[in-house]
Amino acid sequence: MEPLANLNGETMPLSEARIPALDRGFLFGDAVYEVMRVYGGRPWLTDEHFARLGRSLEAIHIHGVDLGRLRQRMLDTIAAGPFGEAIVYIQVTRGAASRSHGFPAGVQPLELLYVQEYHDPYVQARQDGASVITFPDLRWGRCDIKSTNLLANVLANQAAKEAGCVEALLYSDDGVVSEGTHTSFFGVLQGKLLTAPNSPHILPGITRGLVLRLAQRARIELQEHELRRPDLARVSELFLTGTTSEVLPVVRVDGQPIADGKPGSITRRLQQAYREAVSEACGG
Ligand code: PDD
Repeated sequence: MEPLANLNGETMPLSEARIPALDRGFLFGDAVYEVMRVYGGRPWLTDEHFARLGRSLEAIHIHGVDLGRLRQRMLDTIAAGPFGEAIVYIQVTRGAASRSHGFPAGVQPLELLYVQEYHDPYVQARQDGASVITFPDLRWGRCDIKSTNLLANVLANQAAKEAGCVEALLYSDDGVVSEGTHTSFFGVLQGKLLTAPNSPHILPGITRGLVLRLAQRARIELQEHELRRPDLARVSELFLTGTTSEVLPVVRVDGQPIADGKPGSITRRLQQAYREAVSEACGG
């Protein structure tokens, strides 16, 4: 099934979508985005993703986007496929205008979304556990905005790939490990589940939020507290969360095994709870 796009209200095969060369998303990265998962034809955690998109738009002062209309376009595009296991990508840019850094007057935002079949690359890693590296966090001070400026993430993720790993965990100058290049992460230290608190240094992950609620419901002791680089040698469990990775156990960091090198029991419980939450909401 070919990916299907909706560009400013018009449906077309993704390969036919054309973005103007002067679009500010292309020139300046003046744009925000969302990635959503579709299970069994149903979009997952839609309210949460659209709420975050609204916050990102507001944070960079892009006005005039009708999120209700965008959401309907997304539902129509999923149904037009029809798509079962899929990813929705949504990007809103400030629009196209003669190149000048300040906001242009009277320009309509560009609204692109596309739906693409998802061939889950993490099936095996979710069972066996994955390896990650640590990498310096070279990003800006507003990582809570889901902006398309992802160069630091791209470079860190490529370093992970070249090391044969699935992800890079990013650490700042003071040694705090905040999140992955496209995932949030959790660790278990002395029996307590820890993840970095929301702040300008991390994206408020939708999956992170759900996993916190699931952990609470399962009465797993938890605290929103940062882990530091040396903590990674002391944790008994580590896992990533994200729209595409779901709950992904990490069993090796910078070549060193976590505990016995196998996914831990809290990770397993949360993987199971996640699957149940998806089944409940999307069936299957
Ligand atoms: N990435 N942290 C960063 C920096 C991210 O880009 C993402 C998502 C996450 C996880 O957020 P969520 O649970 O809402 O997917 C954390 C998307 C999937 C991407 O860029 O492809």
